[in-house]
Amino acid sequence: MGISYRNPLRVYLCTLLFISYTHSFFSHADNRITQGQTIRDGETIISSGQKFELGFFSPGNSTLRYVGIWYHNISVQSVIWVANRENPISTTARVLTITSNGNLAVLDENANSVWSTNASIVSKNSTAVLMDTGNLILSSSDSVGDPNNALWQTFNDTADTYLPEMRVYMNVQEGENRAFTSWKSENDPSSGRYSMGIDPRGSPQIVIWEGQNRRWRSGHWNGLIFTGIPNTRTLYFYGFRLTNEGDGNMYFTYTTLNSSHIVRFWIRWDGIGEQLIWDEGKKDWGLLQSQPSNTCDVYDICGTFAECISTDSRICTCIEGFEPKYTDQWNKGNWSGGCVRRTPLQCEKNSSSDGFLVVGGVKLPDYADTVVAENTNECEDECLNNCSCNAYTFVSGMGCMIWSGDLIDIEQFSSGGKTLYIRLARSELGGKRKISNLAIIVIVVSGTIFLGISIWLLWRFRAKLKAFSSSWRKREDNLQLNASKSREFSTDFSGPDDFFIEGKPGDGPELPLFNFNLVAVATNNFANENRLGQGGFGPVYKGTLPGGQEIAVKRLSRCSGQGLQEFKNEIILIAKLQHRNLVRLLGCCIEGEEKMLLYEYMPNKSLDFFLFGLFVFSYLITTFAFYLLSNLYKHEQRKPNSQLFMTSSY
Ligand SMILES: *[C@@H]1O[C@H](CO)[C@@H](O)[C@H](O)[C@H]1NC(C)=O
Ligand SMILES: *[C@@H]1O[C@H](CO)[C@@H](O)[C@H](O)[C@H]1NC(C)=O
Ligand SMILES: *[C@@H]1O[C@H](CO)[C@@H](O)[C@H](O)[C@H]1NC(C)=O
Ligand SMILES: *[C@@H]1O[C@H](CO)[C@@H](O)[C@H](O)[C@H]1NC(C)=O
Ligand SMILES: *[C@@H]1O[C@H](CO)[C@@H](O)[C@H](O)[C@H]1NC(C)=O
Ligand SMILES: *[C@@H]1O[C@H](CO)[C@@H](O)[C@H](O)[C@H]1NC(C)=O
Ligand SMILES: *[C@@H]1O[C@H](CO)[C@@H](O)[C@H](O)[C@H]1NC(C)=O
Ligand SMILES: *[C@@H]1O[C@H](CO)[C@@H](O)[C@H](O)[C@H]1NC(C)=O
Ligand SMILES: *[C@@H]1O[C@H](CO)[C@@H](O)[C@H](O)[C@H]1NC(C)=O
Repeated sequence: MGISYRNPLRVYLCTLLFISYTHSFFSHADNRITQGQTIRDGETIISSGQKFELGFFSPGNSTLRYVGIWYHNISVQSVIWVANRENPISTTARVLTITSNGNLAVLDENANSVWSTNASIVSKNSTAVLMDTGNLILSSSDSVGDPNNALWQTFNDTADTYLPEMRVYMNVQEGENRAFTSWKSENDPSSGRYSMGIDPRGSPQIVIWEGQNRRWRSGHWNGLIFTGIPNTRTLYFYGFRLTNEGDGNMYFTYTTLNSSHIVRFWIRWDGIGEQLIWDEGKKDWGLLQSQPSNTCDVYDICGTFAECISTDSRICTCIEGFEPKYTDQWNKGNWSGGCVRRTPLQCEKNSSSDGFLVVGGVKLPDYADTVVAENTNECEDECLNNCSCNAYTFVSGMGCMIWSGDLIDIEQFSSGGKTLYIRLARSELGGKRKISNLAIIVIVVSGTIFLGISIWLLWRFRAKLKAFSSSWRKREDNLQLNASKSREFSTDFSGPDDFFIEGKPGDGPELPLFNFNLVAVATNNFANENRLGQGGFGPVYKGTLPGGQEIAVKRLSRCSGQGLQEFKNEIILIAKLQHRNLVRLLGCCIEGEEKMLLYEYMPNKSLDFFLFGLFVFSYLITTFAFYLLSNLYKHEQRKPNSQLFMTSSY
């Protein structure tokens, strides 16, 4: 190194360098703060896997000092948590320590506490450990790093960032939980105007608030995804999981599709909720999605009883049967007055005077109430029997929801979305009954014919079918091998092609469309060890979604003879007929040649469901036919003008 030992200054400098090097080396070597130990400004602790770092920092242009946690190995300063966000320190001497009462505290130069964890601690011998998840856990010295026995943890005292594995708690009785609060500005971590959290009402949804007002919401949770996010963006919302602890206590967790991806959600100082992924190539964060991202995402932009359509030049339109409250303002593009009923409801006088308008492919309105009902008809009755009910819907995974107040924040999607049944005076509905009856008759007749034919075919060719299925199994194995060789299932979120999802408004079932890559990851690239058996139309695989939900994937073989339309019909049938005793259909995946059905995996349920797919299919058709017949009969009796069967699914 060419050091001259005769030059005292150089020796001194060199020693200083060496000391500061070893010093930083030692402070980096540990991931914890023990009782009595102090972390001075300039020192940091790093989680054992080198993922996160804790220490003093100054945000942006600020010269004030804060204690925070940031990503250790990421070149852009990305702070995920700040301790003394409301009480920065400007003086030079400051420490982070565990005080004699066992709490973690930030002390200023006069040893005054500017921030403390405030936990009531008996043992008074605590250790704080920075985990690779980004969680700083304070616990007594006999349960170090155990989040379930923590005295205090940052994951319970969050700032503006939501990380994978973090639990966001909510309680149905206590109402909304605003877990995350934005910074005031890029340079000021103190609490800003915006917050993000969960509203458990109806079915849980993510909400962004500005002060007390809602700014954006994700739409209701259906057990798998948040339903108010357009199809093209839903992929990034896979991975959430809701865990129910009982007594109305529930929490959400998020798991990334690929554990080597660094993903975070945050509420920015300007009120935008973002999901980011670290791009090592560009050395910067890449944006997966942001909310609100278009006019229609903005909460309640169209006022009451109106729909927002982002592809329509008018943006806002009143729902059929409603008219602008202030027509001149409305036509000027001031939608704040919303829309009102053209014909008042006669509910109190004559309950059979109302019917329902079917609006397909929408983000369901806000402020729903959940009602106990087994199916759409019971749900409709719940709504009819309550004169304050303005709309209802019955969606698998969410159950029956009714809206008793004004309907607000409805968005019309160009694909996906849910169907909403809006109560209107009977005089506002009409004229479409003949078509609807015709549709029913066509479906019933063709269903019955198909049933007959399939039973006959099955009976006639039962021997051949057996032989074919065993020979097919062999062929399919070979195909499998070739497929996995020739095709790489990328899970990179690189472009719109990755999450392109087919579908037109309401032409499919109300079921999530899964992305092929997601299914490939879930089933480990359709690995042979994940194979459960051979179904009527193709092999069935077991898989695990990010978030942990176990699924069974029926991959329709290319030679099954099922075309796209038949496939869609099957989905619609099963979706409509979901019954508690049958395996629940979670969604489907249509991508090029690939057609797949995703079911809930039930380890102890008989595999017969899969193995005798054709039988089940026939059974479903019969049930469906009877279901339609009974409905037809019921509707003739009760609600001659109801448009129930005018849903766009048919
Ligand atoms: C920091 O200050 C410089 C000059 O005053 C300004 O151009 C820059 O935008 C500031 N950065 C932030 C993050 O505010
Ligand atoms: C830190 O990042 C560099 C690339 O920037 C990478 O080579 C290294 O493996 C990373 N270290 C850890 C512990 O992740
Ligand atoms: C601890 O208590 C003080 C005083 O009651 C309060 O200002 C501070 O916000 C509390 N800290 C935390 C982390 O709750
Ligand atoms: C705290 O606990 C650790 C580990 O059990 C022990 O080594 C240490 O002596 C304890 N400190 C005090 C002050 O009791
Ligand atoms: C974190 O919050 C949850 C829900 O409020 C609570 O049950 C749990 O005890 C808390 N954990 C800690 C360490 O404070
Ligand atoms: C996860 O991502 C890494 C890096 O992008 C990639 O090398 C790896 O194959 C991915 N794993 C899976 C299971 O897709
Ligand atoms: C918009 O219309 C409302 C009445 O619906 C009115 O009170 C308000 O002043 C109008 N705003 C603008 C900017 O014209
Ligand atoms: C209730 O309304 C229906 C449909 O408008 C009508 O046929 C019926 O006569 C009304 N019943 C009464 C008691 O007014
Ligand atoms: C009607 O629904 C509202 C809201 O769910 C509820 O508060 C009210 O009790 C219901 N009324 C009847 C008669 O069930």
